[in-house]
Amino acid sequence: MIEDKKVTKMLYGGDYNPEQWGEDIWAEDMRLFNLAGIDVVTLNVFSWAMLQPSENTYNFETLDKIIDNVTKHGLNICLATSTAAHPAWMARKYPDILRVEFNGMKRKFGSRHNSCPNSPTYRKYSVELARRIAERYKNQENIVAWHISNEYGGECYCENCEKAFRVWLKDRYKTIEAVNAAWDTAFWGHTFYDFDDIVAPNMLSEHFAENRTTFQGISLDYRRFMSDSILDCYRMEYETVKSITPDIQVTTNLMGFFKPLDYQKWAKYMDFVSWDNYPSNEATTATKAMNHDLMRGIKQGKPFCLMEQTPSVTNWLPYNALKRPGVMRLWSYQAVAHGADTVMFFQMRRSIGACEKYHGAIIDHCGHENTRVFREAAALGAELKRLGDATLGARHKSEVAILFDWDNWWAIEYSAGPSVNLKYYDEILRYYETLSNMNISTDIIGVDDDLSQYKMVIAPVLYMTKGDYDEKIRTFVKNGGTFITTFFSGYVNETDLVYTGGYPGKLRDIMGLWVEEQDALPPEMENHFTYDGVRYPATLICDLSHSEGAEILTTYEEDFYAGMPALTKNAFGNGHAYYVCTASNGEFYKHFLGNVMDELNIKPVCITAPDVEATIRSNDKGDYLFLLNHAKTDSTFALNTLDNRGGQDLLTNTKYNAGETITMKPTDVLIIKLD
Ligand code: GLA
Ligand code: ZN
Repeated sequence: MIEDKKVTKMLYGGDYNPEQWGEDIWAEDMRLFNLAGIDVVTLNVFSWAMLQPSENTYNFETLDKIIDNVTKHGLNICLATSTAAHPAWMARKYPDILRVEFNGMKRKFGSRHNSCPNSPTYRKYSVELARRIAERYKNQENIVAWHISNEYGGECYCENCEKAFRVWLKDRYKTIEAVNAAWDTAFWGHTFYDFDDIVAPNMLSEHFAENRTTFQGISLDYRRFMSDSILDCYRMEYETVKSITPDIQVTTNLMGFFKPLDYQKWAKYMDFVSWDNYPSNEATTATKAMNHDLMRGIKQGKPFCLMEQTPSVTNWLPYNALKRPGVMRLWSYQAVAHGADTVMFFQMRRSIGACEKYHGAIIDHCGHENTRVFREAAALGAELKRLGDATLGARHKSEVAILFDWDNWWAIEYSAGPSVNLKYYDEILRYYETLSNMNISTDIIGVDDDLSQYKMVIAPVLYMTKGDYDEKIRTFVKNGGTFITTFFSGYVNETDLVYTGGYPGKLRDIMGLWVEEQDALPPEMENHFTYDGVRYPATLICDLSHSEGAEILTTYEEDFYAGMPALTKNAFGNGHAYYVCTASNGEFYKHFLGNVMDELNIKPVCITAPDVEATIRSNDKGDYLFLLNHAKTDSTFALNTLDNRGGQDLLTNTKYNAGETITMKPTDVLIIKLD
């Protein structure tokens, strides 16, 4: 990921904000970093107020000192541009920088991630700050990456955004007639006569709740526009620093499954992906893994940077449980197992005030190294040194891909009907989790990605079939691929207009069936079907369909549509397409996907005990099998890899023969370099 000749091991460090405490402490910071094996610091994330104390004054004195200090101590720098929170004077003097919320409320100065992305003031001064920072530090040899802003997100509904939205629409649709057609404004007499009639869709206009809109078309386009507007801010800074330091790689820290921003589009403008991993208390091994795989997938499998995670605890959850001993290490290696080439934290030292003073840090308020958290961090630091460059740049080889598409996420959840319980993320997770629990290497891909390398592609709820994506699927299946989709697929085009003539629209010939109706089941209702001898519940949505050539693998058992297909398989060209007409339980997905994968000879990277996750990464130095014990108890299993190889654990140098019994303690990690 960070392709820089200085980087010869997994970088280890994180957000360091010494401008928040006295210089007398900095030497102690350096001593402790050295003890913990820290070799990179992310600097200058929230310093705009310090760097530009008034409109015409810039002051780099403190940042110079900080940079000198960490440089003297041999640390690499990930240098941020500080544009994620504007200075107070700027908000007072130029209120256009302040956002307007979804409910129409104009904000005053406060908080962070708070600038209107279409504010001329923000655009001018953020780029100017990035330019000055890049100019000033362009010869600083220990800068390994630019970190633009911080965790971009949110939205704005101010008049500048509204104006910019009209420009965006003109660019996309050219004429007002085309807009009217795209949004079907003949409905409820919403016809626009002029671009100036169009206002931002929020609680003052088309919406009656966050996801409840009377016009999906405009709301969807506003999502796209907002993601693009914020991306423009990033890109302007990107271009600026890149023009000054073409050899330094540029990133911004993303947030996994973050709905407001279309990261698949964003990743095209990032030299490498970096992201912040803060699993909730409810997160499972699979949900954590799925975030990592998404972050790897948006850059076509290129290793990413784990930019932030807490060493111990967050402060912003309702219940901020500590990471138990060993868990920080386990989750760090989980990130690595899924494609991370760095292990980094928020934050290096705990602040003493404001809302993050109880957020975990490598150095706690007590100020010394004799803490559990510090000891764990130092042990991992030493281990990463020993690992060296072994796994750097290593990639995954997956025969299975799951399609994830932001437009579908937005469109499905704006849809009025069929069910408020239909959540795109949840439907993706059903399939991903099944594969993850079986240790099947899976890529999460977008609509622009090539399908030819996969044996099986799963596109749960492909509600919106954009452009000629159907053609991509058609070619994939014709050429022998196996495609799986589900209920509520193929319904609409990119502006959420229904393809008439029968669902699933352009997918109909591939699936070999016609869907006539869909029944949304309230949570207390179930239908059933029997698959391969086992009876399973049908929940959430039941598509009522007629085969047009597809083999009916099972049918519904109850209600007036008993006997109609619940699962079909269509032979198409040299491949097959499955339509899963309803949702079911985890056992079903395991059974069904297990059968399909048996037919396709798709194998787990390693067969393990339950809750022992396995992935393989490969580079030109070798193939690395990661085994991670997420179970609360010891796990014992025989080493049974895809191609029956043994190898040597890089963390302990222990050798394991193929078939040998392995016992892993809770939170244990093995990185076996396969023979
Ligand atoms: C985010 C931010 C950090 C910090 C952490 C706290 O990831 O980027 O500045 O607020 O959350 O968890
Ligand atoms: Zn705005």
